[in-house]
Amino acid sequence: MSRSLLSIAELGETGLRRLLDISDHMAEVNRRPNPKVPALRGKTVCNVFFEDSTRTRLSFETAAKRLSADTMNFSVSQSSLNKGESLRDTVETIAAMGVDAFVIRHGSSGAPWQLGEWTSASVINAGDGWHAHPTQALLDMYTVRTALNRPVSVDGGSFDGLRVAMVGDIKHSRVARSTTEAFKLLGADVTWVSPKTLLPPTHDENVVANLDQVIDDIDILYLLRMQNERMSEALVPHLREYTARFGLTPERAARLGQHVLVMHPGPMNRGVEMAVDPGELPGSVINQQVTNGINVRMAVLFELLGSGSENSLTGNTES
Ligand code: CP
Repeated sequence: MSRSLLSIAELGETGLRRLLDISDHMAEVNRRPNPKVPALRGKTVCNVFFEDSTRTRLSFETAAKRLSADTMNFSVSQSSLNKGESLRDTVETIAAMGVDAFVIRHGSSGAPWQLGEWTSASVINAGDGWHAHPTQALLDMYTVRTALNRPVSVDGGSFDGLRVAMVGDIKHSRVARSTTEAFKLLGADVTWVSPKTLLPPTHDENVVANLDQVIDDIDILYLLRMQNERMSEALVPHLREYTARFGLTPERAARLGQHVLVMHPGPMNRGVEMAVDPGELPGSVINQQVTNGINVRMAVLFELLGSGSENSLTGNTES
């Protein structure tokens, strides 16, 4: 694995499997009464979020702290960017304070690669534009592996035979791209369920234009958020019509097989793509996705910044 995590494609299948294995160790740490180990003592992780986030930002901060790293949180709205300082000068200034890893979210696709040109610190892509969100894909794979008890690791195993429907606004979704890529690396069959107007211009995925066409034949229903803030034009005639064709309504929830996992990266639009109470869906693993976000982000930080020795995961800190 390189010293940065920018995309699932660059991570590759072996790196993906390795991070799933390390996430198991982190899950064990997180089950302890004092879920903290000294693995990254002396390291500093800086969160640089140019777009809003609840799950990713908080789970990276929690992950770093549970590994005993120091954390810095860069607040765009209170920074000298507002006085005209460039992104490059900002990054180089923060790096000069002694940072081992930048965790960056940015509205522009490619921003994490650009940041990597300006710093020798590790760079972790926490979501760039419509492009990639590799740690979301990792937590999704870890959640499926755990929920279905599939022994996927560096030693073998796969998601062969798993049928995944990824539903909704694919065009604007970095989650759809990264999570589809990860599912396919592990052998799952992915179908995109989306109106034509919400598909990327080029792709080689199977596509259907109505959730009813696949709902009886899937193992995983992955609902995507309608990203209204990224749409500069009306790409669906009306949200009610969208829900009628693509939303998880009570009627469709009743049709779901008992074994089907329901996933959503959050934040969800209740009444649009999620037109039922997800808490009442027996197959919902949406909360597990959030919990596993800490496990996999600890694994990523440990892999990039740690010694690589599992021994450093065994001790509790004395604090
Ligand atoms: N899934 C996800 O990236 O959520 P946040 O935007 O809250 O981080």
